[in-house]
Amino acid sequence: MPGTIGAARRAEPAILTEQLSKEYGGKAALSDLTMTVPRGQVFGFLGPNGAGKTTAVKLLLGLARPTAGEGLVLGEPLGDVAVRRRVGYLPELFRYQDWLTAEEVLLAHGALAARPSAARRGEAQAVLEVVGLAGRARDRVGTFSKGMQQRLGLAVALLGAPELVVLDEPTSALDPTGRHDVREIIHDLKSRGVTVFLNSHLLGEVEQVCDHVAILRAGRVVAQGSLDVLLSSTGVRIEADGVTSGTLQGLERFGEIFLRGTELQVDGIRRQDIPALVAELVARGAQVYAVESRRPSLEEHFLGLMGGR
Ligand SMILES: Nc1ncnc2c1ncn2[C@@H]1O[C@H](COP(=O)(O)OP(=O)(O)O)[C@@H](O)[C@H]1O
Ligand SMILES: [Mg+2]
Repeated sequence: MPGTIGAARRAEPAILTEQLSKEYGGKAALSDLTMTVPRGQVFGFLGPNGAGKTTAVKLLLGLARPTAGEGLVLGEPLGDVAVRRRVGYLPELFRYQDWLTAEEVLLAHGALAARPSAARRGEAQAVLEVVGLAGRARDRVGTFSKGMQQRLGLAVALLGAPELVVLDEPTSALDPTGRHDVREIIHDLKSRGVTVFLNSHLLGEVEQVCDHVAILRAGRVVAQGSLDVLLSSTGVRIEADGVTSGTLQGLERFGEIFLRGTELQVDGIRRQDIPALVAELVARGAQVYAVESRRPSLEEHFLGLMGGR
């Protein structure tokens, strides 16, 4: 049956790990990482510096061996050599030789990846177009800004039409314009069905591009799930006359309530419970002028998780 194997391939997750752990000199860098990254997703791997993000990426790419645990990348065991051709990688710290042109960097990587020599130039041009450097193919890396060098790094990661792209802190060295550009490239990859695994300590970045996140703290995942679910608890601010502490009796079941003059704030309320709360207030004689719901930013959520340190 033609296409059956391809379909099965697409159905299996891009990344699957089970209790993956790494120690360096007896000290845990990553502990019991169990996660699933479905195909086509932009997955954010989030945590402060030193949390173990780069260590996890090195295990996924076979650049370091796990102390314990196991995993599959594109259906193959960690460290599988053939699978590396199907994975693009932007390392955290990289530097290309200043005297090479952008095209030469890409041709060299094409050669390393054993791409047919006749195809290399066309492939180099194609990825330069994706990252917006098509007009700079013949310019030397030494003349590039940080943002352009980062884009060239992305172009290298995109060579060979990878099914999975692993980006380790792709925006931390960039200014806001550069960050915006990288976000656009990630959106573009997603629209073409490429799975993106994004390491970052920048919450705002992750919040803007990722569907799912895992939050890492000191080598352990402390939260994992879709952004919508992680951030589903919300708060509401209500402006109303005629509210006293008596009016609020029994309403604590909705969330934590603060009353300041005519402003009422309820934290931790679920979004779907907001209409019922407003109805109760009105039934108790409040005159409601404004209702404004807000979901916490990933940053507030993250700080809450890190706060128990
Ligand atoms: N090659 C190594 N040798 C010894 N310790 C390491 C090595 N690589 C990472 N570590 C340690 O492992 C922990 C996690 O590091 P890392 O994975 O680089 O974190 P992150 O990428 O989240 O900043 C840190 O405490 C770091 O010092
Ligand atoms: Mg790192």
